[in-house]
Formats: sequence, structure tokens, C-alpha cells
Amino acid sequence: PRILCTRLLTPLAQRRLESETRISLVQWRSEAPMPRAELLSQIQGVDGALVLLTDKIDAEAVDAAGPGLKVVSTVSVGYDHVHTPTLAQRNIKLGITPDVLTDASAELTLGLLLATARRFKEAMAIAKTDNWGAWNPFFLTGSLIRGKSMGIIGFGRIGQAVAERLRAFHPSTLNYYSPSQKPDAERSLGATRIQDLPSFLSTTDIVIVTCKLTNDTRGLLNSETMKHFKKDSILINTARGGIINHDDLYSALVSGTIGAAGLDVTDPEPFPAAHPLHTLPNCLILPHIGSATMETREAMSDLAVSNVLAGVFGEELPASVKL
Ligand code: DGY
Repeated sequence: PRILCTRLLTPLAQRRLESETRISLVQWRSEAPMPRAELLSQIQGVDGALVLLTDKIDAEAVDAAGPGLKVVSTVSVGYDHVHTPTLAQRNIKLGITPDVLTDASAELTLGLLLATARRFKEAMAIAKTDNWGAWNPFFLTGSLIRGKSMGIIGFGRIGQAVAERLRAFHPSTLNYYSPSQKPDAERSLGATRIQDLPSFLSTTDIVIVTCKLTNDTRGLLNSETMKHFKKDSILINTARGGIINHDDLYSALVSGTIGAAGLDVTDPEPFPAAHPLHTLPNCLILPHIGSATMETREAMSDLAVSNVLAGVFGEELPASVKL
């Protein structure tokens, strides 16, 4: 079988893929994304495609691959870059990398929350200047996390791992907004589901977005829904940028409808340096580093290799999406 890999993988996974003698490998050996034209040309005739979240796998890419494509394996848990109806229609399997990135993503979420609540962006900027001044009781006062009402949008693996860590901060309440009830997690984490978004937002001090980007969640947080945020609330997004309307977020942060925001994901990515959100002291932006630890990236790449190999050899994928 012929496999296309659209990027250089982490060292161990790369070695594993290269030493696989049963396959013929076509690879874009770069840390930068494979250009679209190159992808459309190199995908022709492959049995499996090992891709990243920067590669759009739509009907055009699947058509370019031709009838032999059996599996698409992405080095990510999110798969909004893959057009799943096209894959389902052509009986092509989809492999993803759940579980192995849960801890890294949850840890980053907590880090971003702490950094946003305690104004790291302003503090780091001031520390490099002569405006530092003498210690003073009013200087850069942020917001305590302990005792706050916390709410998680999306209560899957990552949402629950975040909730587990948030418990250490003794929240007054821990709620979640999700299309489905999670009774086990409710019991073990002491969480309550609030299915009505305005009620969820208006009772939450710290809103953390961990859900998938789907047609239902695209633009979920916009000028209308942002009206329900509590004053001085903190919004954290480590899921997908498209869940939040960034122009509306800018207005909400300027007007004080939302107190502060920490974003690890944006729409688009890379986020333009000229976007006005960068100018706000109460908006901390990271360049999508939720899963960025070397051990995590190795584990993700390894799982993606296992998925693509299983797919081309007609075996069950270790981690697949039900299409
Ligand atoms: C994923 O796997 O979907 C993450 O966004 C990568 O960090």
C-alpha cells in the first residue's frame, strides 16, 4: 500500500514510519504544511493519508486520491478539517488521536486560565520596562480563581480533565454545557449540566470552551450570547477558534461585558498580528499550543501512524471516528 504523509513527524514516529517495509511512503519532509497543490498532486493513488489539522481533507482532496483511499489518519483529536460526510459516503475510515493529548491540553487550559486571571500579559510587558515601580497594593490586581463559579462548554475527555483539575481551586459551582448528559462524570466531578446557554453563562464566572467545532458550535459565542456573560467573567478557549466570533469578543472585552479572555485557538490561524484583539491588555493569545509537549506530540504521531497502517491493511483502527 501507498501512504501519503503530509509532514515530517516527531523523531520516533518518523523512524517507525520510515522503517515500515510493507508500505511505499510519499512524504512532505518539512515542518511547514504541505502546499495544497502539492497535496492534491501527491495524494493521487494512495491507500492511506496521514495528515495534520492544517490539511483540508474535503471532497476535492478525496476525489484527487481516487477510489483506492481507505483511511485518513489525522495527528489531532479534532477533525473539523476533514469533511466527514465525504468519507462516510465513500466508506473511508477516519483515525484521530484522543486520550494521548488530554493531560497536555488540560494542563495548558489551567495555565492559560491562571495567566489570564492574574494578568500575565500586562505583568510580563511591564516587567521589561521602567514602569515597574515600587511594590504597591493596587498594582496589577487580578482575580482569584478559588471560590468562583466555573462552567465548561463541552464535557468530553478534555473538558472532564479540566474539571478534575479545577476542583483543586474549590469552585463554588462546577457546571457544564453539553448536548448530552454525562451522569458518571457528574457524580465523580460534582458537576451539573445546564443545557440552556443564557442560564449557563449568566451563572458562571469562568467559562472554559473545550467542545468540538461543529455546525452547532460554530460562532456559538457571539454578540447575542455574550450579552449573558457575568460582569468580570473570564473566557478561556482551548478548543477551536471558530466557536467564538472574534470581532464580537473584541467589543465585549472593550465594553466590559466580558472581563478578560485567554485564547489558545483563534480563527483564523495564524491569527493576524494586526487584529485589534492583540492590542487589548485583557486578552491573552497563544498560538495553539494545547498539546505542545514533546511526549504528547510523539504519542499523537505514533497513534496516527498506527491508525494509518491499520487502515491500509484492512484492520480495525486503534482510535477512529464513527462516521
Ligand atoms: C487537536 O488535536 O485537535 C488539538 O487541537 C491539537 O493540539
